[in-house]
Amino acid sequence: MQHILEELDRRREEARAGGGEKRVAAQHAKGKLTARERIDLLLDEDSFEEFDMFVEHRGVEFGMAEQKFSGDVVVTGWGTINGKVVYVFSKDFTVFGGSLSGAHAAKIVKVQRQAMKVGAPIIGLFDAGGARIQEGVDSLAGYADIFLENVMASGVVPQISVIMGPCAGGDVYSPAITDFIFMVKDTSYMYVTGPDVVKTVTNETVTHADLGGWKVHAGKSGVADGAFDNDLEALTQIRRLVDFLPSSNRTPAPTRETYDEIDRGEASLDTLVPANPNKPYDMKELILKVVDEADFFEISPDFAKNIITGFARMDGESVGIIANQPQVLAGVLDIDSSRKAARFVRFCDAFSIPIITLVDVPGFMPGTKQEYGGLIKHGAKLLFAYAEATVPKITLITRKAYGGAYDVMSSKHLRGDFNYAWPTAEIAVMGAKGAVEIIFRAEAKDPEALAAREAEYKTRFANPFVAASRGYIDDVIMPHGTRRRIIRALKSLKGKELANPWKKHDNIPL
Ligand code: HXC
Repeated sequence: MQHILEELDRRREEARAGGGEKRVAAQHAKGKLTARERIDLLLDEDSFEEFDMFVEHRGVEFGMAEQKFSGDVVVTGWGTINGKVVYVFSKDFTVFGGSLSGAHAAKIVKVQRQAMKVGAPIIGLFDAGGARIQEGVDSLAGYADIFLENVMASGVVPQISVIMGPCAGGDVYSPAITDFIFMVKDTSYMYVTGPDVVKTVTNETVTHADLGGWKVHAGKSGVADGAFDNDLEALTQIRRLVDFLPSSNRTPAPTRETYDEIDRGEASLDTLVPANPNKPYDMKELILKVVDEADFFEISPDFAKNIITGFARMDGESVGIIANQPQVLAGVLDIDSSRKAARFVRFCDAFSIPIITLVDVPGFMPGTKQEYGGLIKHGAKLLFAYAEATVPKITLITRKAYGGAYDVMSSKHLRGDFNYAWPTAEIAVMGAKGAVEIIFRAEAKDPEALAAREAEYKTRFANPFVAASRGYIDDVIMPHGTRRRIIRALKSLKGKELANPWKKHDNIPL
């Protein structure tokens, strides 16, 4: 009996060794942790239970029959994050560059299916060179199996991908389907085809970092939702994110005890909006002063900075916040900010997280670049996302709410539940200057007359009371009381029931 137990120990040791000491040292030398070290940091201590440690690949071509590694270069299983069950897979770059075989794919599919059955988030840690070249079509089939499960899980359980090394070829499309992608600065990169193929096909010379590093995806393409300095920080932040999320679409958004008073007033908010409407201010200040303990997990902080998205808590309850940022491009809605916010709204709605929208928006961005890029369709995504969302929706207009952007930003007309405005709100078809230049074009040559018209327009429209008189704004509230009013609104919406008409699925303008 003893020797049977020892045999199990020996096999486990062998599987845990990955590519061996030398390759593990090389992994560390690159500033990267191993697949198992990452899982240990991600999950609660001693909570990890591994699946399929003894699975081996079935490849025979190119001498693969003689090269077997227990576990086939992906560590899979489940554990907990602050007590919440999560399923994980973590690719092991130290063997075959973490590349994907049929057996490797089947291990991932197993945890995906299990997570969906029990209703638990799935977290994938990526560090791999794509399809295992020696396996051919079995590898491609394996990828498609994973993609299919990703699609089935979308909107059922939260899916998070962390890119912690190379993520090339077939490996990129599974993260792309998941809800959030995070990268590790300087050690990770993502691309469909690497620099060598790029050189052959387009004759461009480009580095890994310039093709698919964190600056590209977290700042320019918007493919990634954030980047962290190193593995440790990334995994710690994923733990923090998971705390804000429900386990599945069958469970309500989580709540956590807070010591932040519901009626904590913030006198400084009364002077947050500058007297000059063209002067910017930092919308993040409002967010941090209103939410519990100034704890805000920002999504995509480096992409489309003219809109802010992220998770926070109000009296302990998770909420999603979408806010125009007047500090960047005056908070205008453009292609990137519309896409970023639309996806975030849809995530919140899919997972029963109430949405708080803070509005200071001068309109949609004019220009050929935007129109040629399809601003109409991209702007419509945000409109669509807000309109279809059935979770509690609370909107606060702090200053500008002009034109179509007023409608889009969770207005009453798109089923906003509580629509508040500060006394500084200006709700109109457009800004006063632009408006009088159009409707009083005949007086264009008389600056004095035009100035008088502008003043008249401002008195008439640059306030929240016209909208309030129509019932489009439920109340004009004091800035210092914002936290209390939003929390009370959220509490009153606890029993909200709203369903959209039956359909197979909608046809959001993609
Ligand atoms: C098999 C692979 C591999 C792969 C890397 N390795 N990628 N083995 N299949 N896809 C092996 C290497 O042979 C090497 O083994 C070890 O992993 C480490 O790789 P290095 O190249 O030494 O590491 P590094 O210099 O850090 O470069 C990492 C890399 C590079 C940039 C990821 O390995 C690379 O370019 N790999 C190929 C990427 C690729 O084109 N993948 C296929 C994409 S096509 P030894 O034993 O020598 O140390 C694809 C199609 C699927 O994925 C589409 C589905 C929709």
